[in-house]
Order: sequence, then C-alpha cells, then structure tokens
Amino acid sequence: MGSVMMTGIEIRLLTDRDAAAYWHLRLEALEREPQSFGESAAEHRLTTVESAVERLAANPDENFVFGAFHAGQLVGMAGFFRYQIAQARHKGRVWGVYVRENCRGQGVGRALLAALLERVKTCPGVEQVTLTVVSGQAAAYALYRSFGFEPYGLEPRGLKVADRYFDNEHMVLQLLTALNSTHREPAR
Ligand SMILES: CC(C)(COP(=O)(O)OP(=O)(O)OC[C@H]1O[C@@H](n2cnc3c(N)ncnc32)[C@H](O)[C@@H]1OP(=O)(O)O)[C@@H](O)C(=O)NCCC(=O)NCCS
Repeated sequence: MGSVMMTGIEIRLLTDRDAAAYWHLRLEALEREPQSFGESAAEHRLTTVESAVERLAANPDENFVFGAFHAGQLVGMAGFFRYQIAQARHKGRVWGVYVRENCRGQGVGRALLAALLERVKTCPGVEQVTLTVVSGQAAAYALYRSFGFEPYGLEPRGLKVADRYFDNEHMVLQLLTALNSTHREPAR
C-alpha cells in the first residue's frame, strides 16, 4: 500500500511461536479499549497462552492473525476467520484490530489491514468480509471505509460495557462486486 510510511515496522503473519505476545497484546487491547471489543478482559484472562497457540496454529489458510512488530515487539494486530458452515463459507470476518497507542497514526493499522485483505483475496471462494465497529470510533471507521467497507446497518445498544451501551456499526466489503445483482435468486 503506497501510503504506508513506517520505519522499523515489520508486518507478518503470527504463528504459534507468537502466542504469548499475542495473548498479552490482546489483553492490553481489551483493558484499554473495552468499548471496542465484545470480549472482556476478564474473559480473556480465563483463557491460556496454550489456547492461543492452538488458535494461531489451527488453520492458518482461513483463520489467521497479522501482527505488527517494532524492535521485535508486537505492537499491533488484526485477525480474520472464514465461516466454516457450508452456506456461509463465502464469507469471512475481521476481528481484533488494535494498534498500541504510542504507535498509532503512522500507518500501522493500514498496513495490517492491507496485509490481511491481500491474504483474504487468496482464499478461494471468499467473496465478502464483514466486521463491526463501535459507533463513534472515527479512526477505525475511516480506516475501514478507505478499504471499501460499506456500512449496512446500525445496531442500537450492540455492546454493553458495565452499565454503558454502545451502538454497533456493521460493515461489509464485497470482494466480487460484479456478482451482486446477476447471481441473486429471485424472491419467492
Ligand atoms: C483503529 C486503529 C487500529 C488504527 O490504527 P493506526 O495505526 O493508528 O491507523 P493508521 O495510522 O494506519 O491510519 C489508518 C487510517 O485510519 C484513519 N485514522 C487514523 N487515525 C485517525 C484519527 N485520529 N481520526 C480519524 N481517522 C483516523 C485514517 O483514515 C487513516 O488513514 P490516512 O492516514 O491515510 O488518513 C487504532 O486507532 C486503534 O487501535 N484503535 C483502538 C482500537 C479500535 O478501535 N479497534 C477497532 C475495532 S473495530
């Protein structure tokens, strides 16, 4: 991606060897930005690094996490999974997008999402990608819009963090836009 202006940042797929770093960055994300994610920090603390090893190793073609490294330290991440049930296998989902605060505004999030979407495009049969962003998260929303994600619905009170509600903006990126109108079955 042309606008990526970063020195000393490496973007690569996480493997099971990155599980501990991934587990800790995920905890930081949930602790610092609880309104941006469905899982709570308390829930995450109940999981183990071993479960992260399994997650990262399970099916890296269709279920993967990209990481951004600065001086060998994991400072950002972006996850993807493909739905496995037969009639939803044309879809995947982006989750867990997070960049450590002191690394923001330098193109790290953009580079993570670009790498993720490049890999998604190599998954045969994946036609659309969805994600959810909390309403009012201007940086994340602008980032997703710039990759072509379109909002398709606002879910009022989609997240409840302690006693506060947050609306969810649901977004979709069509990878095969040409299919849209031509291959739809007529309504019965
Ligand atoms: C969203 C997030 C990952 C962006 O990471 P980042 O490394 O700062 O993003 P980048 O520097 O690559 O910027 C990418 C784009 O985001 C948008 N953006 C970034 N910071 C912004 C800000 N403060 N205000 C508005 N838009 C902003 C811009 O469109 C920018 O593109 P541009 O630089 O070409 O204009 C980061 O802000 C973050 O971790 N936020 C908290 C967690 C979160 O909201 N995650 C998303 C959950 S759905």
